Amino acid sequence: MIVTEAVSSYLAGLRPEPDPVLSEMEAHGAREDIPIVLPETGQLLALLATTRRARRVVEIGTAIGVSTLYLARSLPSDGTIVSFDIDRRRQAAARDYLDRAGVLDRVDLRLEDARLGLPQLQGSFDLAFVDGVKTQYQEYLDLLLPLLGERALLVVDNVLLRGTVAEGRSDGAWNDEHIANARAFNERVLSLAEFEGTALPVGDGVLVAVRRT
Ligand SMILES: C[S@@+](CC[C@H](N)C(=O)[O-])C[C@H]1O[C@@H](n2cnc3c(N)ncnc32)[C@H](O)[C@@H]1O
Repeated sequence: MIVTEAVSSYLAGLRPEPDPVLSEMEAHGAREDIPIVLPETGQLLALLATTRRARRVVEIGTAIGVSTLYLARSLPSDGTIVSFDIDRRRQAAARDYLDRAGVLDRVDLRLEDARLGLPQLQGSFDLAFVDGVKTQYQEYLDLLLPLLGERALLVVDNVLLRGTVAEGRSDGAWNDEHIANARAFNERVLSLAEFEGTALPVGDGVLVAVRRT
C-alpha cells in the first residue's frame, strides 16, 4: 500500500459498484492470485483513453482482461486494442469475459511474447499500457517508442512496487534487483526529451507520459 489505510478506504468508498462481468473478473483474479490492475488504476486508464480520444491502443500483459476491459470500453466503436500475453489459459478467460462484456470486436488478443510481437505492429498508437514482467520494462519501452505517435500516452503500472521503489528496501517479494530496475526505468522515462511525464501514487504507482510532438 502506497497511501495510508484511511485514504485508501475513503477512495474505495467513492468507487461506483463494478458491473457483473467486472465483479466476476475481480473475484477470479483474487481467487487464483492473478495480478490485475487495482480499480483506481483501471479508472485512470479509462479516463486517459477517453480524454486522449484514443483509437489505437497497445497493451503488454492481458492476464484475464481487466485492464483490457477498462481500455476497450473507452474506445470508439472503430477503435482497437492489441493486447499481448503469453499465458494461454489466462488469455482464454480474457476472451470469454471480453465477449460477455460486449467489447471483443474492439480487442485483438495476441498469444505472444510482446518482445516478439511489438516489432511486427504497423502504424502508430495513441496509448500504450505496460503491465508485463517488471524486469522486462526497459525492453518493452525500446520497442514501444517507435510505435507511439504525436500526443500518444505511455502508461506504466507498478512503478512503485508497493512503495519499495521509494524506500529502496526489499519487502521480501520485490528484491533489490526489481527495485534498482524500477528506479532506472522511471528515471529513464521521465528524462526522455520527447516526452512530458509524471509518476502518480495511484494503485501500485502509475507512470503517465505524453509524447510532445
Ligand atoms: C500483471 S499481469 C497483467 C494484468 C492485466 N494488465 C490486468 O490488469 O488485468 C502480467 C501479465 O503479463 C504476462 N506476460 C509476462 N511476460 C510477458 C511478455 N513477455 N509478453 C506479454 N505478456 C507477458 C503474464 O502472463 C501476465 O498475465
